[in-house]
Amino acid sequence: MNLLINNIKQLVTVSANRRGIKAGCEMSDIGVVENSSVLIVDGKISKIAPSSKIKVNDEIFVLDAEGGIALPGFVDSHTHLIFSGSRENEFAMRAEGKTYQDIASSGGGILSTVRATREASKRELFRLGEKRLNDMLKLGTTTVEIKSGYGLSPDSEIKILEIINELKRDHFSTIVPTFLGAHAIPFEFKENPDEYVELICNYILPHISEKKMAIFCDIFCENGYFNLKQSERILSKAKEVGLKIKLHADQLSTFGATELGVSLGAISVDHLELINENGINTLSKSKTIASILPGSSFFLNHKYAPARTIIDSNIPVALATDFNPGTSMCYSMPMMMTIACTQMKMRVEEAITASTLNGAAALGLSNEVGSIEVGKNGDIIIFDVPDYKYIPYHFSNNFVKHVIKNGVLLEM
Ligand code: NIG
Ligand code: FE
Repeated sequence: MNLLINNIKQLVTVSANRRGIKAGCEMSDIGVVENSSVLIVDGKISKIAPSSKIKVNDEIFVLDAEGGIALPGFVDSHTHLIFSGSRENEFAMRAEGKTYQDIASSGGGILSTVRATREASKRELFRLGEKRLNDMLKLGTTTVEIKSGYGLSPDSEIKILEIINELKRDHFSTIVPTFLGAHAIPFEFKENPDEYVELICNYILPHISEKKMAIFCDIFCENGYFNLKQSERILSKAKEVGLKIKLHADQLSTFGATELGVSLGAISVDHLELINENGINTLSKSKTIASILPGSSFFLNHKYAPARTIIDSNIPVALATDFNPGTSMCYSMPMMMTIACTQMKMRVEEAITASTLNGAAALGLSNEVGSIEVGKNGDIIIFDVPDYKYIPYHFSNNFVKHVIKNGVLLEM
C-alpha cells in the first residue's frame, strides 16, 4: 500500500546537498516547506507537493496530518542499547559527590554492567533491546546504531552482536551494528591488557568480519581504558578486516584521541567534551564527523563539548543519545536537542540537522535516511506541535503523533 500524508503545516525536509552532510552555516538550512503533502510509494518518498496537487486513488492510503509538523525520523548514531541490569546506585552516589571515575575504580562502572550482561540470556537481552527500540520509535527515532561492549569476552561479545543482528532483521527500525569489544579491560586481563588487545585483533575482529556481524568498530580511547597505541592497533586491524571505524575520544581526558581518529580516517569521533584547539584544527581539515553526546555531560555534570566552536569551525556535527546505563540513561533525541540548544548554544535548526542528516552521515547512511527527499526511505515523524521550534522548547513531553517507517504507518 502506498501512503499519502496530507495537510502538513511545516515539512522540515533537511534536504541534503550532494555530499549528504551539512557543516557550518549549512546546518541551519533545514528546508522548511509550508502546507505540503508527501507521497510514499513502495517505502520510498516519491513526491513532495502542495496538498491539493497529489491525486488520490484506491492504491493510496491517505493520512491526514491535521496541520502537524513533519520531520525526518531521528537517527541516533551512538547507543550502547544492549545491556542487562541498571546502575541507579551509581547515580545516587554521584548525587552525593562521587565521580564517574571514583565509581569505576571501586568496581562499578562499565564492568558492573558487564557482569550483569554476561549472565543474561540471549532471549532476555533481545527482549530488552526490542522494548528499548519500541520506546525510541515512539519518540521518533527510526534509525539506531547499537554497540556491543558489555560482554568483553569472545563469546559474550559475539552473543551481543548476534542479538543486535537479530534486532536488525526483525525490528522496524534501521539498525547499524558496531563492535565495541574495546570498551574496557575485562577482569580476566586486568594484569595484562595487551593480551586482550591481541585477542581482539587475532580472533574476535576476524571472526565478526567473516560473519559480517558489524559495520563499525569503536573503541574507548581513554586513560585507564585503551591508550593510543592499543587504539591504533585495534582500529588498524578493524580497517584491515573491512570494518569502518569510530572512537570515543576526548571524553574524560585529552591526549590525542581525536587526532588518532582523523589520521586513521574515522567516520566520526564521539564525545569531545575535552577536545582542545589542536583537535578542532585537525578535525576541520578532515572528513571526520564530530558526534556530540550532551546526555552524558548532563547526566555526569561534566563539561559540554564546545559544539558552538566546532560548528563555527565548519566541522559537521551529529547529535546522539549515547544511551547507556552509566553515563546517559536516556534515549530521547528531542531531549538531546533541548540540551544542545540550552547548554551548548546550538541553534534549533542545527540541532535538527545534527539529529537527522548528520547522524545518518555518521553511519554512512545519508543516501537512505536523515532527510525527506524523493528517493529516500519513507521515514517521517508527525509532531502535534505548532512549529518545529516547539519540539526542543517543550522538553520532556512526547509530541510524536505518527511514526512512518519505510512508508508504513506504525501503530504506537
Ligand atoms: O559512552 N565512555 C564510554 N562508554 C560509555 C559509558 C559506559 C558506561 O558507563 O556503562 C559512554 O559514556
Ligand atoms: Fe558511548
